[in-house]
Amino acid sequence: MKQRALGDIQVGVIGLGGMPMSIEGRPEESRSVSAIHAALDAGVTLIDTADAYHRDPDEVGHNEELIARALRSWRGDTSHVVVATKGGHLRPGDGSWTVNGDPAYLEQAAKASAQRLGVDTIGLYQFHRPDPKVPYAESVGALRDLLDEGVIARAGISNATVAQIDEANEVLGGRLTSVQNQFSPKFLSSRAELDHCARLGIAFLPWSPLGGISKAAELGGNHAPFAEVASAHGVSPQQVALAWELSLGDVVIPIPGASRPASIEDSVKAAELELTPTELIRLAGVG
Ligand SMILES: NC(=O)c1ccc[n+]([C@@H]2O[C@H](COP(=O)([O-])OP(=O)(O)OC[C@H]3O[C@@H](n4cnc5c(N)ncnc54)[C@H](OP(=O)(O)O)[C@@H]3O)[C@@H](O)[C@H]2O)c1
Repeated sequence: MKQRALGDIQVGVIGLGGMPMSIEGRPEESRSVSAIHAALDAGVTLIDTADAYHRDPDEVGHNEELIARALRSWRGDTSHVVVATKGGHLRPGDGSWTVNGDPAYLEQAAKASAQRLGVDTIGLYQFHRPDPKVPYAESVGALRDLLDEGVIARAGISNATVAQIDEANEVLGGRLTSVQNQFSPKFLSSRAELDHCARLGIAFLPWSPLGGISKAAELGGNHAPFAEVASAHGVSPQQVALAWELSLGDVVIPIPGASRPASIEDSVKAAELELTPTELIRLAGVG
């Protein structure tokens, strides 16, 4: 697969999101493991997870443990695979997502994630979502300390504004590796952050790049230009959406979720899909 920079390393331009494997509606673990193995077979080297990707309150880290097991049972060498996890979101068990940006909490959460992933150093650790009760610089300060302690190799943030990107990069002494924000044909509001990352050379990881778990299948129906371009190429509208996102900046690395091998096998083909300038103009600004 084509590669793009994630800080000091290169990863495949299409990653894999693990959320559908572990939250409400998740399938049997064997299907999720097959999807992870299919992704690795196809050249995916960035897998996104979070300690909060679980369903019940007593299974924090469900997705991290599932991914760690799948990496161990894959037949190939996984030493070059980056598992990017996050901390700062919690799921009390009633379906809600709460936040905790307290630095002491984040430090212990990162160490617990490392243990579940079975690594000494987490490849990329992302602050999941700003906590309005805690100054942003203090939360990001925990990531700086984790970098300095060697608990994490790279630091990222998620659900951040342009101002927060600058603030985080300053707190981290210029070591901000990635920004993970929602971005898809359905949700274009993070375009300013994407462009800011492109200017700074920071990786931008669109989350829910197909519109989210419940809407991904309807992408072509909801966004006709994507269906039309897909039909011209004989590919899926989802592939066109990912190829279009890749075209928006050479820092963009989408992380489509999947819980079926066929989904991620189709998505990775976006890395090779060349859209014409006319097609890109047709897709620009489609919401
Ligand atoms: N930072 C944050 O706050 C945040 C929030 C949400 C998500 N995320 C991350 O972003 C990742 C992606 O977002 P998401 O999973 O919410 O939504 P998404 O990637 O927009 O959609 C995921 C769904 O798309 C389907 N799919 C994948 N590739 C497909 C293809 N080529 N054709 C048709 N359907 C396809 C999958 O179906 P199957 O399950 O049937 O395979 C999957 O359930 C998450 O997994 C998670 O890692 C981060």
